[in-house]
Parts: sequence; C-alpha cells; structure tokens
Amino acid sequence: METEVTKKVMLSGIKPSGDLTLGSYLGAIKNWAERAEQFDCYYFMADMHAITVRQNPADLRRRTLEQLAQYIACGLDPEKNTLFIQSHVPEHAELGWVLNCYAMFGELSRMTQFKDKSAKNADNINGGLFTYPSLMAADILLYQPDLVPVGEDQKQHVELTRNICQRFNGIYGDVFKMPEPYIPKVGARVMDLLTPTSKMSKSDDAGSGVVYLMDSPDDIRRKFKRAVTDSDTERCVRYDPETKPGVANLMSIYAAATGRSYDEIEAEFDGKGYGVFKPAVADAVVDMLCPIREEAQRIMKDKAYLESVYKTGAQKASYIAGKTLRKVYKKIGFVAP
Ligand code: TRP
Repeated sequence: METEVTKKVMLSGIKPSGDLTLGSYLGAIKNWAERAEQFDCYYFMADMHAITVRQNPADLRRRTLEQLAQYIACGLDPEKNTLFIQSHVPEHAELGWVLNCYAMFGELSRMTQFKDKSAKNADNINGGLFTYPSLMAADILLYQPDLVPVGEDQKQHVELTRNICQRFNGIYGDVFKMPEPYIPKVGARVMDLLTPTSKMSKSDDAGSGVVYLMDSPDDIRRKFKRAVTDSDTERCVRYDPETKPGVANLMSIYAAATGRSYDEIEAEFDGKGYGVFKPAVADAVVDMLCPIREEAQRIMKDKAYLESVYKTGAQKASYIAGKTLRKVYKKIGFVAP
C-alpha cells in the first residue's frame, strides 16, 4: 500500500495595490512554481487589504485580475496551487472580526507598517489600516499553514499572528496551528534602476527606475539605458555593491536572468564599457519577460478561464476555511446556525 505523505501547507497573500515588477518576479514569484511539488500552496489576492488605502474601483478590479493572470503566466499552475481572491472567501472577514477581539490595541499600535502608512496617508488613517494585522492573522490561521512566505516588511505581522494564535489557543485549546514566517533566501534583491540603494518597489510611483512585468521591450530597453551605473572613473563591470551599487544591481539582474555567475559576467564584459553591458542586461530581461507578458495578455483575454481559476480556487479555500471557522465559532460560544 502506498503511504500518503501529507505535504506541509504554505500560504501567502499578495496585495493588488500596484503592478508587478521585475523585482517581484526575480525576488519571489520565479521560485514559486517549483514550490508546489513540495508544499500544498495557497495564494490569494488580498483585495480586502488593498482598500485600507483609497483605491480607484476600476483599477482595483483590473489589477486583481491582472495579477492573477500574471502569476499564472509566471508559472504558478492553478492545478497545483490554490489561487483565489480574498473577498470571495467570506471566512476571512468573519474570522478577522473575531481575531480583532483577541488583538490588543497596544500590539496593533506598535506595527511599523501602521505607523509608516499613517504618516503617508495622514488624511485617511482609518480603522481598517489599524486592524489590518487581525485580518492578516485570519488569512493565515484559517488554513492552518506551517509556513508563511513573506518579505522582511511583513515579518512583524506574522509575529503578531503568532501572538494571537498563542493567546487564542491558550484560552480554547489547540484550535490553530502555530505558523512560522518564512523569508526565502533564494531570489535576487533587485534595486531601483535610478536609485540603486533602494529596493525596486511596486508602490514606488516614480516609475522610470522600476521595470514592470508588463512593460514592452522598448520600455525595458529605455529604462536600462538610463540605469545608474557608478560615478567612479573605473567604468568597468565589477561586482562591488558598496562602491558600485548600480553596477552590482545590473549584474545581479543579469545573473538571475542568464544563470551566469558574477565571475563569468566580469569576464564576459572585461574591457567593454557600460555601453555594451547595459543593452546586454536589457536584452536578457526582454528575453525573460516577453513570454510572460504575452502569456499574461493571452490569459487576461480568456475571461472564462480566469473565472474558472478563481472560482475553483475560492471553493477549495472556502472548504478549508469553513472548517476552521466553524471550530472557532463553537469554541467561543456562538450558537450553531
Ligand atoms: N500584508 C501583506 C502585504 O502587504 C499581504 C498579505 C495579506 C499577506 N494577508 C496575508 C501575506 C497573509 C501573507 C499572509 O504584502
């Protein structure tokens, strides 16, 4: 008899508040495709989180679907992963409310992201922005995941989720599984092409230092042409992130796109200037992103397919989430409907 090995569960949310970038791809998404072999993966578009800052409704709708299409185009197979839209699974809002009653005002006040975002949106410091981590805790705890892959900036929210989990389990017994944050080591850290000392970020609306997954080849070439290299007089392709952050960033992009090592890249461009190097990086990126862009565009046009993906995903997610929520309701003393 074959033994069924249950895979570990992994879950992550993606806020559809900006367009995906080369940084999101090389830093994260690229490594997700093969993860499905090892883990039972859930990924959702966190549209309910996105509205904690004001969104244009048409843009939010388009971006949510576009991101889903882009993830699939990047290799996230909907047959092997559960892909869904957060607002399609009402258990998130329901458990989010419950967990609000187990998250402390002081804890929530200490969240760096809340402080940053309040400073940036001084005219819209709403309750949702403040209680965002309780909803995120609900997102996570509903699926009893082992691991939660997040960027460094979200680690504090996962820590808070762990505190809520422990507090809740302490009162009611083992209801939730204790999740671990998982900060993947693989993947390149891509920096802004114009300000190579800061991360290439999707929320950066400066634009021209950011390469988007959906940029045309011309856009990509133009952006790399303008990329900052360095101000020293050496003018050679050498990996030194301290003194040559711009060149180091281009090298790490080139390395990720071609699979070459820094030594190989230095040898390849030995004696050649940035005028040769920059277009070569641009070409490698165009070659890498073009098929993804075309596939995403094809999927976006296939509304029926996209719909079947997110409907199936929501059904699968709801089945698991519903089980956890029923258990929670029972434990806290809600009358069964
Ligand atoms: N807060 C995350 C971000 O801004 C997105 C997110 C929402 C998330 N819910 C989650 C990530 C649950 C991991 C698990 O990027």
